[in-house]
Amino acid sequence: MRFIELIEKKRDGHRLNQAEITFFIEGTTKGTIPEYQLSALLMAIYFQGMDEEESFHLTKAILESGSVIDLSAIDGIKVDKHSTGGVGDKTTLALAPLVASMGAKMAKLSGRGLGHTGGTLDKLESIPGFNIALSETAFNQQVNTLGVALAGQTSDIAPADKLLYALRDVTGTVPSIPLIASSIMSKKLASGADVIVLDVKVGDGAFMKDIEEARKLSHLMIRIGEQYGKKVSAFLTNMSEPLGFAIGNRLEVIEAIQTLKNQGPEDFTNLVIELAAVLTVKAGLFKDVNAAKKEALNHLKNGLAYQKFEAFVAAQEGDLNAFDALEVGASTAIYADQDGVVSQMATLELGLRSDASRRRSTNQRRPD
Ligand code: URA
Repeated sequence: MRFIELIEKKRDGHRLNQAEITFFIEGTTKGTIPEYQLSALLMAIYFQGMDEEESFHLTKAILESGSVIDLSAIDGIKVDKHSTGGVGDKTTLALAPLVASMGAKMAKLSGRGLGHTGGTLDKLESIPGFNIALSETAFNQQVNTLGVALAGQTSDIAPADKLLYALRDVTGTVPSIPLIASSIMSKKLASGADVIVLDVKVGDGAFMKDIEEARKLSHLMIRIGEQYGKKVSAFLTNMSEPLGFAIGNRLEVIEAIQTLKNQGPEDFTNLVIELAAVLTVKAGLFKDVNAAKKEALNHLKNGLAYQKFEAFVAAQEGDLNAFDALEVGASTAIYADQDGVVSQMATLELGLRSDASRRRSTNQRRPD
């Protein structure tokens, strides 16, 4: 098979078959296809799309490029959550301990920030000592005893996605429905959970700017998950303004803590409660969403969710006293010079500023 034929086929709007998609992903993982050809195919997919069957084959090939986590040592139904990436999105920090306090088993692998969207690992690492490198045994044991563990995604999970994502990031081919769906679902399926809730962000600060596109993405991811016997639900949530008030790793951890004490911003608190309710109902812990929502709110009010967060951080060697002792940078209030209503926010720009300042502080450079 010659790779140029795949590029031409997709460029001209034709379907790729399973053998061709497997060839593409195996060649990516083994490094036998040059990046300029991979980039050309990604651009052709960006413009011509892929149908559902191609997207299934792509997900399967990316999933099979690495290993699949075996969570069978954890008792009960395992739950997971994924966000397509937003600005100020600290949902996992509050959701994971909340659902664990409600009896769920949250076995979560997380990633670093992508482009203008922050990553859960970076946020958690703003807590001094927090260890994201758990061994498989320690991870499974912690989920069994505490109900929650969060570790960094290892390089053997969907390695083809890592390589392709890096190319997509610098070739303007991230916002493609089949590419996003296969990227996310290959990693979720490799992570081994039984119940998955997807938080699909829509708006200026999201990869999906348009609600219809976000809906198509959600349906595709649900169908991919169902093919593998998983219970998948998707929420479309607003990213036309940052979630909550805080953007930036440490500030977002502070806001998640406030939310776990029921003192967080309304939009963020509501989102966390909604997601917790669906996850726990699908895991069979509550009869209906209303009962689960009521219990989730109770756990924010009665301290159980925050206690679970403290235990989770301590189990992963994080030091909350040292975190509290860190200085918060100076803040400046900027007032409007006339009365009015904020009708829209440049969310993407806010995310890019935060990404730029994070890269400055860690000396990383993003390729142009
Ligand atoms: N998050 C992912 O993991 N992959 C994408 O393609 C987009 C968001």
